[in-house]
Amino acid sequence: MKILISGALGHMGRAVAEQCAAEGLEVVGGVDVTAGEAGFPVVTSFEEAPEADVVIDFSKPAALDGLLAYVVKRHIPAVLATTGYTEEQLAAIDQASREAALFRSGNMSLGIALLRALSRKAAEVLGGGFDVEIVEAHHNRKVDAPSGTALMLYDAVKDAYGEPREAVCGRHGRDCRRQHQEIGIHSLRGGTVTGEHEVHFLGVSERIRISHSAENRSVFAAGAVRAAAFLLGKEPGLYSMDDVVGKL
Ligand SMILES: NC(=O)c1ccc[n+]([C@@H]2O[C@H](COP(=O)([O-])OP(=O)(O)OC[C@H]3O[C@@H](n4cnc5c(N)ncnc54)[C@H](O)[C@@H]3O)[C@@H](O)[C@H]2O)c1
Repeated sequence: MKILISGALGHMGRAVAEQCAAEGLEVVGGVDVTAGEAGFPVVTSFEEAPEADVVIDFSKPAALDGLLAYVVKRHIPAVLATTGYTEEQLAAIDQASREAALFRSGNMSLGIALLRALSRKAAEVLGGGFDVEIVEAHHNRKVDAPSGTALMLYDAVKDAYGEPREAVCGRHGRDCRRQHQEIGIHSLRGGTVTGEHEVHFLGVSERIRISHSAENRSVFAAGAVRAAAFLLGKEPGLYSMDDVVGKL
């Protein structure tokens, strides 16, 4: 499997390169905003990028157009792990997935796939009598908030309820008493935290908390490489972690 890494010089790009080396997989090149050398050549646009069997992308949403043009033109799959896409970009991913096999997940870790399933189950069992709040913490370089994973957890819990639920990101002010239909999402930023997510179910006289901590980036890199292997030979379409681990 020949791998092209998008965002190759970033923290996650380097973690993916290390993971590939550990698994004996070939990285044929990388794309980033500056050219360089990372044990493989790094170029500044997908137009200059070499042939590959699959792209693994941990970059910035701004890289999306070039990436999609590259994979659609060559009919090769891509793992899109970047977070913070706009609605228009998500629609462009949907459109491109008619011509290329694309895998998108705001969190590539297996543990988070389980946390999502457990949160969905908890919402089903506990029902509307419990208030749900999601808390996430990440390092001080993270640009998007809330995290893509927090939004995935929100979606999982929201879908478990028969009635509408509305995301409320942070609270401040004199008139922000919690409404029943809210799911609060709170973002902590600082230091070098790799990624922590907690889903709180707050009921009358009892409270359930389900949490996940990623200790280092290798869990995301390993998950992305696993997703890349899963995509090889797949029909065009949009795949996710549920397709890799099965519906839990
Ligand atoms: N899905 C997951 O499991 C998961 C896990 C960790 C991080 N992420 C996401 O991955 C992304 C990268 O995270 P990071 O910590 O490595 O960030 P980073 O800032 O360390 O690295 C991003 C890299 O992308 C490059 N880049 C920026 N614009 C680009 C463009 N237009 N084309 C190509 N490269 C470009 C930057 O120069 C940088 O080298 C973020 O969106 C982050 O939220 C996802």
